[in-house]
Amino acid sequence: MVFICSLGNELIWNFLSMDQIHAIYNGNFDNLEDIKVSPLSRAYTFSDSVYEVIPFFNNEVIAFNRHIERLQYSCRSMNIDANIDQSSKEILQLISLSKIKDGYVYYQISRGVDPIRSHMYSSKLHAETFGYVTSHKFEEQTLKVALCEDIRWQRCDIKSTSLLGNVLSMNEAKDQACDEVIMYKENKITEGGASNVFFIKNNRIFTPSLSSNILPGITRELLISEAAKHEVKIMEQDCSLDDLVKAESVWLTSSTKGLAPVSEIVNQNSNLDVSHPLFKKCQNIFKDAYFKE
Ligand code: PDD
Repeated sequence: MVFICSLGNELIWNFLSMDQIHAIYNGNFDNLEDIKVSPLSRAYTFSDSVYEVIPFFNNEVIAFNRHIERLQYSCRSMNIDANIDQSSKEILQLISLSKIKDGYVYYQISRGVDPIRSHMYSSKLHAETFGYVTSHKFEEQTLKVALCEDIRWQRCDIKSTSLLGNVLSMNEAKDQACDEVIMYKENKITEGGASNVFFIKNNRIFTPSLSSNILPGITRELLISEAAKHEVKIMEQDCSLDDLVKAESVWLTSSTKGLAPVSEIVNQNSNLDVSHPLFKKCQNIFKDAYFKE
């Protein structure tokens, strides 16, 4: 049976089993598996869409405004005319109605559904929105990673769903029993397949500076500013492959991974300490600020 209700219709919600309701499509709540999408959605034909992954822990949304600002930035950068206030409300509703304590919302905005597939879009299209909420265990993961050439487009600062470069590289790494990749362009580290990169060299912490080649990760930003409050300086600069391979400790950050230490970089003679005191300090600072039980 398909249950549909409009945003804010608490009465109908009360009749629905909370286990079944996890999604919203164009403003209508529904079961994830019951949502029907046109094959002419530009998200489907062109990956002409942007997204956010918004974590919440202990019923607290982490850095909500920053995620919303980045969603707005992504829409503006792609000329997608979206109602961000409405999307913000939907994201919060998904969380509160789900009754899930720890999890995240995936929320996507596409340019809309075309009458016929065409590279050049009409300015009359209506943005198409889709979101779902799911539970997630924010547990520490230790990662094995592979290094790979960054084969992606040149606007990785936009959180677009066009992620084929990431997908191909990460699945090649999976064949080597890796959990993630660290990508480089012209010998400079860019980012992970779905994360940002930090490392320690000579007891100093480094991360690649922001550019159009990397996503301005929210976790990255939160860590840098929280660390600064505790007089832990993180240097944002160009980082070479050589620096990374010789690092004493490496970790990746994302909304779902938190700070995840790297135990091994395959085919490299790295000697990585997953319990490096400076890394542990960063991890505790971040945990105290956002993941306090
Ligand atoms: N990805 N870089 C890339 C390419 C990413 O896909 C992500 C996150 C990050 C980290 O960003 P943040 O700290 O804001 O989560 C960096 C999400 C989690 C995903 O696609 O599932």
